[in-house]
Amino acid sequence: MNIKIAPSLFAANFAYLADDVKKIAGAEYIHVDVMDGHFVPNFGIAPHIIQAIRPLTGQVLDVHLMITEPIRYVDVFCNAGADIVTVHVESDTEENIHAALDKIRANGKKAGVVVKPNTPAEAILPFIEKCDMVLVMTVEPGFGGQKFMAHMMPKVARIRALLDRYNPACELEVDGGVDLTTSLECVKAGANVLVAGSSVYKAADPARCIADMRRQCADAVK
Ligand code: DX5
Ligand code: ZN
Repeated sequence: MNIKIAPSLFAANFAYLADDVKKIAGAEYIHVDVMDGHFVPNFGIAPHIIQAIRPLTGQVLDVHLMITEPIRYVDVFCNAGADIVTVHVESDTEENIHAALDKIRANGKKAGVVVKPNTPAEAILPFIEKCDMVLVMTVEPGFGGQKFMAHMMPKVARIRALLDRYNPACELEVDGGVDLTTSLECVKAGANVLVAGSSVYKAADPARCIADMRRQCADAVK
């Protein structure tokens, strides 16, 4: 399996953002958390911040929208420089989520859906063929530094089985409480993209943490 690491910029020091982008240069993706104070009780990274970091890196910007009715803003985030945009299945009607995915793809970007911890695997089924990425939350969205929910692993495995059947090229990402230990459970359950915020930025050597996580996970699923 092609394991990719997606450090979450939400855990960076925003007073030194450019330095903290450089610290994760060895990662495949940069995960960008967007929050609106409504879908989740917190605020995240705004479009102008994405625009500011876009010229600093050629890495894939993986933008996770935790906002109500994301269709209103997908163009804004695509224009700001996102490469992948994911929307929560809980954030609007099925029809509008379809429309949001279509809009992301019409911008030439990759699209995906996200499920919160209490949302079942089957909730992705209406959208599965339109997804380049499915993201399974392993914490309640809204805050970094929370404890990994190991009981999400059966859902990850179930979604991997659905993807194998209906859309094998789609990536499967996990987000929340992922570190050098919990990442192993995630890849064994079938995830291939690992979002890691605190574990990477709190590490004495973030570049080494990224490399170790990728290597250990790749070894675990050899
Ligand atoms: C939570 C965000 C996560 C968060 C992960 O709502 O979606 O991406 O930054 O942070 P850690 O890795 O610290 O749990
Ligand atoms: Zn996220």
